[in-house]
Amino acid sequence: MKIAVLGDIHSNHTALETCITHALERNVDEFMFLGDYISDCAYPQKTMQIVYDMNKKYSCRFIRGNREDYMLHHRKDSQEVWTYSSTSGSLLYTYENLSESDLDFFEGLPISGFYEKEGFPSFCYCHGSPASAREYLSGDKGKLEKILKHIDVDLLIGAHTHIQESVTVGNKKWVNPGSVGVPIGHGGKSQYMILHGTKSGWQEEFFQLEYDVDAVVKEYELSGLDQKAPWWTRLNIHLLYTGEDHSAACIMLARELCEEAGEEVNGLDIPEKYVEMAVKRLELNL
Ligand SMILES: [Fe+2]
Repeated sequence: MKIAVLGDIHSNHTALETCITHALERNVDEFMFLGDYISDCAYPQKTMQIVYDMNKKYSCRFIRGNREDYMLHHRKDSQEVWTYSSTSGSLLYTYENLSESDLDFFEGLPISGFYEKEGFPSFCYCHGSPASAREYLSGDKGKLEKILKHIDVDLLIGAHTHIQESVTVGNKKWVNPGSVGVPIGHGGKSQYMILHGTKSGWQEEFFQLEYDVDAVVKEYELSGLDQKAPWWTRLNIHLLYTGEDHSAACIMLARELCEEAGEEVNGLDIPEKYVEMAVKRLELNL
């Protein structure tokens, strides 16, 4: 039994196609998608089309990630303000390029699941953690240990951190296939894994694949996303080419600088000049 496990696509349909082709060449039996299908890269509808086509052609399992939750929350909450900016512009652009039926699809997905098949040990899969799509588990062995203790299987598959890794705690294991679309590390190569199943357990095989990053970067321009989320786009392009992620640090610093200057910050509404200041302060060569 071979399962291709793909997480954190983030609208990077080019990297997704590369991973799917690679997995099909290895004759995988099933596909498992761990959420965060959309946002950050351009044309989310292209990614959604691949997702729907995969669902028609192959045995697939889907769960939803925190980015899908953001979209669903935005549909429900008419008071939430997203603007064309480096903080919420990518989310707004993504929302505007999704259809109601895409959002309905997300709404129908669970945030975690159990893989159960006769002849194979069961395992649990999720985006962040089994209880929350937003929980971040990389680098926190204590938190991971607590979560693993509470599930009655030996293997937990999770994504969300964009870091490809496998962590063993006692006789249990957490395995993260990394990110297909905006991967951290490995020089920005697209990441996914194949889980090989036998009667006695599951073994992960990690992959890092070269793909056409230039094509993804070109789409920021073609779609106008580079104008709608200027610094966010530059941070993403840097991440795509290098595997180095500065976006969270940059937005956090921009928020601090804004507050220091006595300006009120409402949610993601941070004026563009503070993001620019943060980029300079962090000496990022974008
Ligand atoms: Fe996520």
